[in-house]
Amino acid sequence: MAWKTLDDMDLDGKRVLTRVDINVPVEDGRVTDATRIERIVPTVQDIIGKGGVPVLLAHFGRPKGKVVTKMSLQQLVPALEQAIGKDVIFVADSRGPAAEAAIAAAQAGQVVLLENTRFHAGEEKNDPELAKEMAALGDVYCNDAFSAAHRAHASTEGLAKLLPACAGRLMQAELSALEAALGAPERPVVAVVGGAKVSTKLDLLSNLIEKVDVLVIGGGMANTFLAAKGIDVGKSLCEHDMTGTAKEIMEKASGLNCEILLPSDVVVAREFKTGADNETVANDACPADAMILDAGPDAVAKITAALDNAETLIWNGPLGAFEIAPFDTATNAAAAHAAALSRAGKLVSVAGGGDTVAALNKADAAKDFTYISTAGGAFLEWMEGKVLPGVAALG
Ligand code: 3PG
Ligand code: MG
Repeated sequence: MAWKTLDDMDLDGKRVLTRVDINVPVEDGRVTDATRIERIVPTVQDIIGKGGVPVLLAHFGRPKGKVVTKMSLQQLVPALEQAIGKDVIFVADSRGPAAEAAIAAAQAGQVVLLENTRFHAGEEKNDPELAKEMAALGDVYCNDAFSAAHRAHASTEGLAKLLPACAGRLMQAELSALEAALGAPERPVVAVVGGAKVSTKLDLLSNLIEKVDVLVIGGGMANTFLAAKGIDVGKSLCEHDMTGTAKEIMEKASGLNCEILLPSDVVVAREFKTGADNETVANDACPADAMILDAGPDAVAKITAALDNAETLIWNGPLGAFEIAPFDTATNAAAAHAAALSRAGKLVSVAGGGDTVAALNKADAAKDFTYISTAGGAFLEWMEGKVLPGVAALG
């Protein structure tokens, strides 16, 4: 890898400014999914193990440069302490004398958490002055926030240029999983891409057709591709103004030897609600007053056959309206199949981005995937082939 890791750094007695992403879902003051907090523990432990003091820098929500009390990181202290198994010293600013004093007083083995970096307007502007003030608080910079690496902010990008910098353990794990899935993957590679709209995933599709052998398209965006083939999709979610683009993608894919797999059969209903009456029809037989809400069993069989034949899978987005049963059936079945192949050591499977992890958790499949990314937007941008500023700055 082109960047340093904790193994390359001398951390003994050092203050290690560690950018983490603990932007976790919170309801009524309680963390409802602590995954991101749990995943930074190896980095925190390794820094302590090497004699350093981890000083955690993080954002929470989008306070837009103002102090917004309900976006204070203080509320995450109990969840952090539980995950790390140590007291966490919280400081109500991410720069300045109070932070400096608390960090200076911290003993080896202690962990410091600084307040939401986005309370300062300079954070999202990547203001060099703010980065300098943050840099003054530490001796070494460690970036463990892959899921925030698509942001060129003071604490994710600017800081990396001011201090000796390295990747944390989670950053390393994310980057090696992504490398295994799209960088230098074992072939054949299957990508599963779902989601509502083609328009939000254009860059993604264009990049994937150059990199993968089979591209499975599901969710609402598959309807746009069916419409592009001249198929009437009734009342289905469909971006009719994107059919030209969809056609271009299909033509380009065939020139690149990338097979695009659209659902051969579909599950249709007249209402978008849990348990709505539904029927399975061929993909060109959606009644005029119905909408496609899931891929059908024949489509699933084609997807599982592609997975049987694959060495690598990269997955982003559900195949149907997975939030409302029974329209989660195709997603669950394909996910369970990928999970079983992964468990048997026959498939390297990597998933991430937005709804994907929720869908795979719901299918009880996530635990068997080779790697589940903690990232939403960053995972997507990486799948789009974009350079992530937070990663580039470590190089
Ligand atoms: C996320 O939750 O996707 C990351 O923490 C980045 O947050 P942002 O989209 O507000 O920049
Ligand atoms: Mg985001």
